[in-house]
Amino acid sequence: MSISVIVLAAGQGTRMSSSKPKALQTLAGKPMLSHVLSEVEKTKPDQTIVVHSPGHRDLVKNVATNFSEIKLVAQEKPLGTGDAVKAAIPTLDKGNNILVLLGDVPMIRAKTLKLLKEGVEKADILVLTTKLENPYGYGRIKRDEQNNVMAIVEETECNDEEKEINEINSGIIAFSREHIEELLSGLGASNKKGEYYLTDAIEMAHNKGLKVDTIITSSSEVFGVNDKKDLAEAERLKRAELTDALMEQGVTICDPSRIDIRGTLKCGKDVYIDVNTVFEGDVELSDGVTIRPFASISNSYIGENTEIKPYSTVDNSKIGNNCIVGPYARLRPGSDLKNESRVGNFVEIKKSTIGEGSKVPHLTYVGDTTVGKDSNIGAGTITCNYDGANKHDTQIGDNVFIGSGVELVAPVLIEDGATIGAGSTISKSAPKGKLTLERSKQKTIDGWQRPTKDKDKK
Ligand code: UD1
Ligand code: CA
Repeated sequence: MSISVIVLAAGQGTRMSSSKPKALQTLAGKPMLSHVLSEVEKTKPDQTIVVHSPGHRDLVKNVATNFSEIKLVAQEKPLGTGDAVKAAIPTLDKGNNILVLLGDVPMIRAKTLKLLKEGVEKADILVLTTKLENPYGYGRIKRDEQNNVMAIVEETECNDEEKEINEINSGIIAFSREHIEELLSGLGASNKKGEYYLTDAIEMAHNKGLKVDTIITSSSEVFGVNDKKDLAEAERLKRAELTDALMEQGVTICDPSRIDIRGTLKCGKDVYIDVNTVFEGDVELSDGVTIRPFASISNSYIGENTEIKPYSTVDNSKIGNNCIVGPYARLRPGSDLKNESRVGNFVEIKKSTIGEGSKVPHLTYVGDTTVGKDSNIGAGTITCNYDGANKHDTQIGDNVFIGSGVELVAPVLIEDGATIGAGSTISKSAPKGKLTLERSKQKTIDGWQRPTKDKDKK
């Protein structure tokens, strides 16, 4: 039961109105082609060929390199799906059945591909179909009185009666190796689009007395993406698929229509996700995590019982257990919040460690810094980490108390137990256990008068 896969990703994709090839348009955080290839990989084909337009080789290669053993074949001109398959044939090793997939049918699942792989052993051609209330735009499956497939008729070629057929071609078709070359060589392009339709091979096969079978699947699995409206609909379908799986696993999602998962979201038990939240890349939420509205989290790990309050951004960061982040916090790449720590509103953290139990509650910038345990960074503190040319580190020990409005000019060290007086600009080490401050003496000017506006002057 060996099979070779051909994924069609050439053609103009005119309806996308984009400089990016259609199959590389982003769906749930990944190019559509990536979704297709990862399902293909699970079916363990003997070989996989992606057919692309000559000008898109590098872009397609970037996606294909994430998968094992994919060959790329350029289709010189976009002369139709039949021509695209023909272009791939010389690159195929002999002896395998062939499964054709489309780069713009991204929701296909490996389990269906496996059924096709097995099913084509018992047929000459096996077409994956679905039934649609509105079949507009798809090729229609035309059957005879015995229910045998006679042909696939493209939308532009349908007569009024054929337009009423609601069983459609998903575009995913398995062929036995034996007949494909002969069928492809018989294709013509005398249709409204002047293209070599792969689907015309079906009528030819039927006329030759070959066995054409079908497998039917859900409409969402074979939703075809031709334009930006379709892309938004595919995103909705994908979202429903991902949120259904999370909810089945016990995650509480406030409103599955108001969450975006653009990548992989892994959740523990009793995770709660509020509305208008966005997850990108690989995100892991441990048991008991709460994500409040408008939080946006990418490529990060969040520990048990931690709460991300509204409007916070967490990017390439690691957050421990029992932490509170936000509202309005910004964790930039390299933030490492240890257990029980707290980062409050309007605080920006970059490439810094906030030690266990330490707090940075308000209006602060912490960059290239290590904060020890149980320290408190007062409101309005700034680590001055950049001298205009280079970045420098700040080290803050355990049990440090930094007053409000402090500037820490890096490189600088604040030793364990040190206290820094509010409003200080600290550029030298602050010793252990002592109060350090840098302030000019407060003075009061006697006899000083506040200026008055001209109109108030007599
Ligand atoms: C195609 C099918 C239609 C099916 C529908 C399912 C044909 C003739 N029609 O129609 O029966 O219902 O998909 O979504 O097969 N491509 C190439 N080279 C080309 C032309 C297309 O590689 O010269 C690729 C495209 O990148 C795309 C796929 O083939 O991924 C389908 O092409 P598209 O033009 O979108 O076909 P549809 O009109 O959607
Ligand atoms: Ca299409």
